[in-house]
Amino acid sequence: MKSKTIFSVNEHAIRDREERLRAILETAVEGIITIDERGVIESFNPASEKIFGYAAAEVIGKNVNVLMSTPHREQHDGYLDNYKHTGHAKIIGIGRETFARKKDGTLFPIDLSVSEVRLSDRRLFTGFIRDITERKRLEKEILEISEREQRRIGQDLHDGLCQHLAGVEMLAQVLAQKLGSKSKDAAARATEIARAVREGISQTRLLARGLSPVTLESEGLMSALAELTLNTEKMFGVQCVFDCTEVVKFNDHAAATHLFRIAQEAVSNAIKHGRADKIIITLRDEPGRLALSVRDNGTGFPEKFSGSTGMGLRIMQTRIGMVGGALTIERNPGGGTTVSFAAPKKS
Ligand SMILES: Nc1ncnc2c1ncn2[C@@H]1O[C@H](COP(=O)(O)OP(=O)(O)OP(=O)(O)O)[C@@H](O)[C@H]1O
Ligand SMILES: [Mg+2]
Repeated sequence: MKSKTIFSVNEHAIRDREERLRAILETAVEGIITIDERGVIESFNPASEKIFGYAAAEVIGKNVNVLMSTPHREQHDGYLDNYKHTGHAKIIGIGRETFARKKDGTLFPIDLSVSEVRLSDRRLFTGFIRDITERKRLEKEILEISEREQRRIGQDLHDGLCQHLAGVEMLAQVLAQKLGSKSKDAAARATEIARAVREGISQTRLLARGLSPVTLESEGLMSALAELTLNTEKMFGVQCVFDCTEVVKFNDHAAATHLFRIAQEAVSNAIKHGRADKIIITLRDEPGRLALSVRDNGTGFPEKFSGSTGMGLRIMQTRIGMVGGALTIERNPGGGTTVSFAAPKKS
């Protein structure tokens, strides 16, 4: 009699816990999907139904790759096999941004994190999915606004400040002439001021061209990178080489702007953080894609990088995501850092 009471209390506790778990799954705003070791979907919460447009009953029992985009769709069984045999996790416990496929075939960006649940006799994998379409749209908009602002500041510097300084330079030259007969010393000072103002004008011009790369618009990515190389040497006094063995034509202006800005940030990081004195920018026209790299001979990317408050690397990743490409940052075996990135060519 006594043991029966204990049993029913336990049973009640278990049922209570199950109900709570179900309520959590059903009310979660994140899509939560569990799969077995072969990749077969075992559960699909209501948020997943909303995100993917499938009813749970339509996908339970199917391979989870129906929700994936190429190349993960074709390779997912291999990922699971690889994890089973090597224990080497590429995503479990890490999380990443990727693309998923809705019932109607639309691809959309998601934040995905996966955790492993070990039961007594088998293991399950739980995927947590957040639709980040809106976040990606905002990121794109912010980049567009920042691009417009940079161009505007560049043009204002060029048309406003440069013209103003040119006027000051002329005044200093006139003053030097007037002083010429009266005081050689004072005239030399005025000439010195004119020279300093001229130097200020050329620095401002370089800044303006960096902010508003007109060459990119008029002559394309290849010429803009060649100009970036020259301007880097002039502005920072480092050796900068542009390695591009054949004429590269790339008509996608929006993508070219992203690639140019990535190269610009990588060069700026090489000088600012790596304190490099040699930088090589490479551009290659490869089948189906345009491949670039910025290689420096500086101190090297930190071995244990735990993130930073800077925006540069994050914006690079957002930009490369927008052109559908990939970007990697590596320490060179001989010292320094290489940022490699590539964008697919639209056919
Ligand atoms: N070429 C490089 N050599 C050495 N370290 C680098 C290099 N590029 C990036 N880093 C490291 O990466 C970190 C983050 O760079 P990131 O561009 O994101 O930020 P930041 O340059 O500090 O700021 P911001 O780009 O917003 O002006 C740097 O603090 C530095 O430690
Ligand atoms: Mg930076």
